[in-house]
Amino acid sequence: MSAAPAPLQENRLLEVKDLVIQFHLMDGVVPAVNGVSLEVKRGKTLGVVGESGCGKSVTALAMLGLVPNPPGKVVGGQIVFHRWTTGEAIDLTRLPPMGSEIRKIRGNEIAMIFQEPMTSLTPAYTIGAQIMEAITLHQQVNKQEARKRAIEMLDLVGMPQPSRTLDSYPHQLSGGMMQRAMIALALSCHPSLLIADEPTTALDVTTAAQILELMEKLQDDMGMAIMHITHNLGVIAEVADDVAVMYMGKVVEQADVNTIFYEPKHPYTQGLLNSIPRIGSKKQLEPIRGVVPEPFAIPKGCAFGPRCPRFMPGICNVVDPPPVVVGPQHTVRCYLYTEKESAL
Ligand SMILES: Nc1ncnc2c1ncn2[C@@H]1O[C@H](COP(=O)(O)OP(=O)(O)O)[C@@H](O)[C@H]1O
Ligand SMILES: [Mg+2]
Repeated sequence: MSAAPAPLQENRLLEVKDLVIQFHLMDGVVPAVNGVSLEVKRGKTLGVVGESGCGKSVTALAMLGLVPNPPGKVVGGQIVFHRWTTGEAIDLTRLPPMGSEIRKIRGNEIAMIFQEPMTSLTPAYTIGAQIMEAITLHQQVNKQEARKRAIEMLDLVGMPQPSRTLDSYPHQLSGGMMQRAMIALALSCHPSLLIADEPTTALDVTTAAQILELMEKLQDDMGMAIMHITHNLGVIAEVADDVAVMYMGKVVEQADVNTIFYEPKHPYTQGLLNSIPRIGSKKQLEPIRGVVPEPFAIPKGCAFGPRCPRFMPGICNVVDPPPVVVGPQHTVRCYLYTEKESAL
């Protein structure tokens, strides 16, 4: 089947194409991101899922020009940001990381929230001071107006008594409240893309559910796109419109959320789904066998080969499978769906 009808192209906000990021360490080179391609659509949520260490966070950092260099370096590929305001397409990998252009985009058009709120919040300043600084940095408003907007932002994220919380320091807030403050900070400039890297992983389930609900509401109100990174398929089912499944520095499958859950093609996606409990299902849980290989020793051919229940010797361990289109907007990297000869 052929993919990508033309009108959907206009919905593209950000396209990652064959992104390669390496970390040069004493023990060797870690190919943290090894040819990632994915797409975030305007106003939609892309869920990015995969086991710890597969390159989710590093991919996200690259979108903001924040890969720590050294030891990290973007060595190939593109991150094309389709700017809403001017319609121009900018390759973010080409912008100098400390230059004025990426700084204008970072925190203004693309914002990021983290698992750990203190990654974004500074302990020495009040929540209000930090949000007001972000507002005045990117918008031409006076202090009074910035304060008013900061209170509105805190109100929007469900902070109790926003005009008082404005003068609180981060350590005076609970984990859930800090998370809300970080979201308020990230959203204070109305970004067109919010990158959320495991935003609820450190929270208890009730608070996590509230934060997910909040993000969905804010997305509806503000029309922004979200790239939601998580290792939790339950979260993906709840928040995502589209899903990219990552394994060892690559996106091995991407499709809309229903296709991923009901018609997964890649044995790794199938394995992930078989290893989570589902209400009403009597099927036995089957954990994926083996462990993620060492990053210095990526297997030849398909990196999932050694753990794959459908491994085909002489095919899967020769050349890495290219992406194949298996349905509308559905791509998979697996020789089960491609001409076997192309591997040889
Ligand atoms: N600052 C760093 N220095 C060295 N290696 C790193 C650094 N950050 C990430 N890596 C390596 O890159 C790989 C991907 O990491 P990451 O993107 O954080 O994974 P995750 O999918 O869990 O977010 C890992 O193998 C990790 O060891
Ligand atoms: Mg991570």
